[in-house]
Amino acid sequence: MLTDKKIVLGVTGGIASYKACVLTSKLTQKGAHVRVIMTESATKFVTPLTFQALSRNPVYFDTFDEKDPQKIAHIDLADWADMIIIAPATANVISKLAIGIADDMLTTTLLATKAPVYIAPAMNVHMYEHPAIVKQMKQLENWGYHFIEPGAGHLACGWVGKGRLEEPETIIEVIEDHLTEKQILKGKKVLVSAGPTREIIDPVRFLSNRSSGKMGFALAKAAADFGANVTLITGPVHEHIHHPNIKRVDIISAEDMYNVIHKHYPTQDIVIKAAAVADYRPKIVHEEKMKKQSGELTLEMVRTQDILQSLGEKKKDQFLVGFAAETTNVIENGLKKLKAKNLNAIVVNDVSEQGAGFAGDTNKVTYINRDEHLENIPLATKQNVAKHILRRIKRDLEDEIT
Ligand code: PMT
Repeated sequence: MLTDKKIVLGVTGGIASYKACVLTSKLTQKGAHVRVIMTESATKFVTPLTFQALSRNPVYFDTFDEKDPQKIAHIDLADWADMIIIAPATANVISKLAIGIADDMLTTTLLATKAPVYIAPAMNVHMYEHPAIVKQMKQLENWGYHFIEPGAGHLACGWVGKGRLEEPETIIEVIEDHLTEKQILKGKKVLVSAGPTREIIDPVRFLSNRSSGKMGFALAKAAADFGANVTLITGPVHEHIHHPNIKRVDIISAEDMYNVIHKHYPTQDIVIKAAAVADYRPKIVHEEKMKKQSGELTLEMVRTQDILQSLGEKKKDQFLVGFAAETTNVIENGLKKLKAKNLNAIVVNDVSEQGAGFAGDTNKVTYINRDEHLENIPLATKQNVAKHILRRIKRDLEDEIT
């Protein structure tokens, strides 16, 4: 899988840079061409000669050490790479990349490349959890950078916690997965709905729910990473996404969502409805702010249209996936929705469970297909849950076609 792949390995200044030596050796043994870029601080931990011997290639650490007058070294490396891995990635390089600083050989190459970039952080647990670093990692993730989460355990600094560079074998597995899976949805059009809807009461008030959009955004990103052309239709959320394969459409109410989804529906191959759409809206939308009155207030509500139901009714070749947020009889209720709405699959989450459902960064779901085959996807980040769901969809889509 790695034979003849061109990999740039960025090594930054952390004690875990010794593991980057093992990574270089293993990548080379698997047939990859590895070129190592070291930051100045990395050279304090391991000498460039070590990486040169292991990779059988010159090692780069000085932007101005231009050996070939025909080329600009960092642009040449940026264009040459099929993939860039930064391992270990320090808090410093993560922050520099997130704000566009290019002041050495590694960061200039990173800004110039179009290749996928995998970042394997390694640092003290408190640094890893610092809000500045959390924010920068989130920003990079939104831009399409991939993270290989550090492991937890005893750290070189003496603390116990998350921050240990992932093992070279695992880093290689992740890369191999990327190379084989990269294109599994190439050529497919995927529509994802995300977030809550807002049902307006008057110019200052609305009814909504706790959906943050994270699950839907993770699905959109994973589908785009797998090569699909994605339309992401989202209610009001704080999430950001920048991906060449994603077109984002912002809506407010269930009615808006109904109209936009139906406009796009006929041309889609896969539709995933992760949005938490309001089931009711106020019967009257007041044009002026409602005045406080003594005593109780009763709002008369009417049903919104069930978008998923209407998509199920109009379905032609689309692979239609619903979500179900349940608190009791989770599987039974999910199965009922799967059948009643003519879906190809449903993803059920028990939103009363710790770490599952609304707002957090993790989820735990059960994927049920038309044959009522159940697959439990254990507690994981929403990104990983999303990838898992899309792999299942891809498999079921192929089974239904053949
Ligand atoms: O956004 P996050 O904070 O990350 O949270 C993720 C999530 C909990 C919102 C997500 O995982 C989830 O479960 N989404 C569906 C929530 C929901 O509305 O479930 P439901 O059981 O009420 O609806 C079932 C399905 O019908 C859903 O696919 C929903 O999009 C759809 N529906 C519902 C009502 C309606 N009027 N039209 C619809 O299309």
